[in-house]
Amino acid sequence: MKPLKVALLGCGVVGSQVIRLLHEQADDLAARIGAPLELAGVAVRRLGRKRDIDVDPALLTTDAESLVTRDDIDIVVEVIGGIEPARTLIVAALERGKSVVTANKALLAEDGSSLHEAARRGHGDLYFEASVAGAIPLLRPLRESLAGDHVKRVLGIVNGTTNYILDKMDTTGASFTDALEEAQTLGYAEADPTADVEGFDAAAKAAILAGLAFHSRVTADKVHREGITDITATDVASAKAMGYVIKLLAICQRSDDGHSFGVRVHPAMIPRTHPLAGVREAYNAVFVEAESAGQLMFYGKGAGGAPTASAVLGDLVAVGRNRLAGTHGPEESTYADLAVHPMGDT
Ligand code: HSE
Repeated sequence: MKPLKVALLGCGVVGSQVIRLLHEQADDLAARIGAPLELAGVAVRRLGRKRDIDVDPALLTTDAESLVTRDDIDIVVEVIGGIEPARTLIVAALERGKSVVTANKALLAEDGSSLHEAARRGHGDLYFEASVAGAIPLLRPLRESLAGDHVKRVLGIVNGTTNYILDKMDTTGASFTDALEEAQTLGYAEADPTADVEGFDAAAKAAILAGLAFHSRVTADKVHREGITDITATDVASAKAMGYVIKLLAICQRSDDGHSFGVRVHPAMIPRTHPLAGVREAYNAVFVEAESAGQLMFYGKGAGGAPTASAVLGDLVAVGRNRLAGTHGPEESTYADLAVHPMGDT
């Protein structure tokens, strides 16, 4: 069977794990898809850098644009993150009928509609399971398994760094600054932790979750956002004394009349008996309430190379199967024309 050729954009923490899994699982992937996946090129920023994984130097290029537009490429995997050049590269690939798998939450939350429209124009697939909550199978259940139900509310711990910090403060009485420093030492928080601790990362994920849960279009600027930098050791201890734990929550809530919804990210006091209260360290969890399904909980590793690569590989199998069958994955489901409340209220 003719191989499906894959172009990988980015060879960092996630990209190197994608390469490892493509290599180690080659036979299983070929059997599941019906054709082998062949890594045909890897776009990187610098050629000479030391990497976590051995890559054939002949596959490396700094010219990402030429790689994604190459006629022989079937599938583009984007794990570079950020808005540009990721947007231009993904749109160029989709318009040429390539399938795209991306983990780029910031881009999807800022300008997902440009990507979906490019996919429609090029009749290509756009899959992004890895963009929210890493390894946890979450987006497909929300978009597909629950499409016949009525999602009322999504409550998520979708940022591992802030959950680690708040958990440390809760279990050891540490200050925010000390807990952040520990998260940085362990490699959870970035050197510049703003996107995590100020809630930007969680807000982007909340926008994607709300869009799928309510079949609407939501951008990150519609998400009311507050981070955890003002949470003190005293706040955490007082909450604990009252039987609560403080978590940074992404909350997507449909209004009682069903015609609108709010999306917000802020620290919240959760009763210690709630399933989300037991989510420790850098784990993620998302609690969904739907009219017929009732309460559902999705739990697992929301970040890291291998967990995120697992979600990318799942999408690769899906787009590979679609290409062989000549079909497409689900398009953006924006059939519910609900209003989004700018302050996150419902
Ligand atoms: N910085 C993110 C987190 C990485 O801490 O959850 C995964 O998106």
